[in-house]
Amino acid sequence: MAYLKKIVMNWDRVDDRNVYPYNVPGISHLGSLEIDRDVIFIAGENGAGKSTFLEALAYKCGFTAGGGGRAVDLGLSDVSLKLASVLTLSWRQKIKQGFFLRAETFFDFAKYIDELARDYDPKKVYKPYGGKSLNEQSHGEAFLSLFANRFGGRGLFILDEPEAALSPQRQLAFLRIIFDLVKEGKAQFIIATHSPILMAYPGATIYSFEEGGLKIVEYEETDHYRLTKAFLDNRERFFKHLFDD
Ligand SMILES: Nc1ncnc2c1ncn2[C@@H]1O[C@H](COP(=O)(O)OP(=O)(O)O)[C@@H](O)[C@H]1O
Ligand SMILES: [Mg+2]
Repeated sequence: MAYLKKIVMNWDRVDDRNVYPYNVPGISHLGSLEIDRDVIFIAGENGAGKSTFLEALAYKCGFTAGGGGRAVDLGLSDVSLKLASVLTLSWRQKIKQGFFLRAETFFDFAKYIDELARDYDPKKVYKPYGGKSLNEQSHGEAFLSLFANRFGGRGLFILDEPEAALSPQRQLAFLRIIFDLVKEGKAQFIIATHSPILMAYPGATIYSFEEGGLKIVEYEETDHYRLTKAFLDNRERFFKHLFDD
């Protein structure tokens, strides 16, 4: 269910377009982004503005990482809050449930859950996370545990580079989790990723944040697919260029 329908960047509310975060490649060309799929990916080079954009979006949706309802729980920068203030969202159906997760801050989240478990009933607190502390599971296990258990219901899930925690095998398992949640018609995913495995999800739209603007690209046209395929097909050719003086 594509709850979130459209994201509009209100440039008329921006004083100076030449300063960060408005001047980074992906954001500087942001107009309005229509969403008609349950699963969309944000691709683009490092520094394109994907994380800044997702933070602002998550904040605008009212999500927090820990559930405490404050921006500080997300570890959001002032910049993301500023960007959030010039975004407008339209919804097919407004939804409050959801989740924003960054691989980088996953362990902060795990720590937060541990603190809750210390203060409340650990059995209850850990139940949605596989029955034990996320810190006692491997990064990948913990991550999948989070999805398989806690994400069982309705929601909009905004994820920043979830592949960081996952082996290729676990990325496939994660695709299945996305499939199951989407099939039930309850979940929408917005995922920034560099993973050629994740972005292969059938029927997803891939938005690429680029110098020249925001583009919708076919899977096979992404740098991630092309470069990975070319590398795997003939890595010697790459090494020749990479390592030759
Ligand atoms: N406080 C800041 N001032 C100026 N530039 C910044 C600041 N924080 C991040 N940037 C730059 O903004 C760009 C976008 O960052 P980010 O959203 O993390 O990109 P991505 O997630 O696509 O890799 C990067 O080039 C980064 O160096
Ligand atoms: Mg990033």
